[in-house]
Amino acid sequence: MRKPDDVRPLSSGPRHPATPTIRPARIEDALDLRDHLFAHLPILDVVSSVQTSLERAAKGEELLLVAVLAGRVVGQVVVTFHLQPSDCAHRASLDRLVVGHGWQRRGLGRALVEGAAAAAVRRQVRLLTVAVRGGTVAEPFFRAVGFNEYGRLRGGLADPFGGQFYDEVLMVRNLVV
Ligand SMILES: CC(C)(COP(=O)(O)OP(=O)(O)OC[C@H]1O[C@@H](n2cnc3c(N)ncnc32)[C@H](O)[C@@H]1OP(=O)(O)O)[C@@H](O)C(=O)NCCC(=O)NCCS
Repeated sequence: MRKPDDVRPLSSGPRHPATPTIRPARIEDALDLRDHLFAHLPILDVVSSVQTSLERAAKGEELLLVAVLAGRVVGQVVVTFHLQPSDCAHRASLDRLVVGHGWQRRGLGRALVEGAAAAAVRRQVRLLTVAVRGGTVAEPFFRAVGFNEYGRLRGGLADPFGGQFYDEVLMVRNLVV
């Protein structure tokens, strides 16, 4: 059993495709999430964030999925279900997608999105949306996993640490085949 202060980086291995398990998060995943994704955050903040997600999941409001590789949680995504207003109940959005730096470009992000899409379809969701910062890796990534741009707010996102502004790119994937 690893101690909570054991944050040794794991070997990521060669950049070959990996087959992760995608499953709903558990509270005990918080330690791996902190170690592999949020090393800059105090463990209690990560525990609190996972706990909040689990409470929202119990109410059907969201679903925190994790990617597990070789027994370690190395990626996550949140599906937020639009319960209100009722004319938007066929929509859900993706938030907080991240794959640990050492595990990127191995198909984990794609696997997380496919897991999220499958979970959304089980909830009768027809449109899966995401809002990304223009000019970042998220833009080509979401295009590669089946999303199309439906809107762009030029200069819509401000860098909280500087004077720069970025486009907010609104993207959607139609889940009805
Ligand atoms: C975006 C992110 C989740 C992608 O995860 P990933 O596991 O590396 O992505 P995948 O390996 O599944 O990539 C699937 C496809 O997306 C595209 N893609 C992924 N990373 C890319 C990059 N850096 N540049 C261009 N295209 C990229 C490629 O087409 C890739 O397929 P390929 O590897 O066969 O060429 C990851 O880069 C990340 O965590 N980034 C930081 C957080 C972030 O930007 N999150 C999105 C917030 S909206």
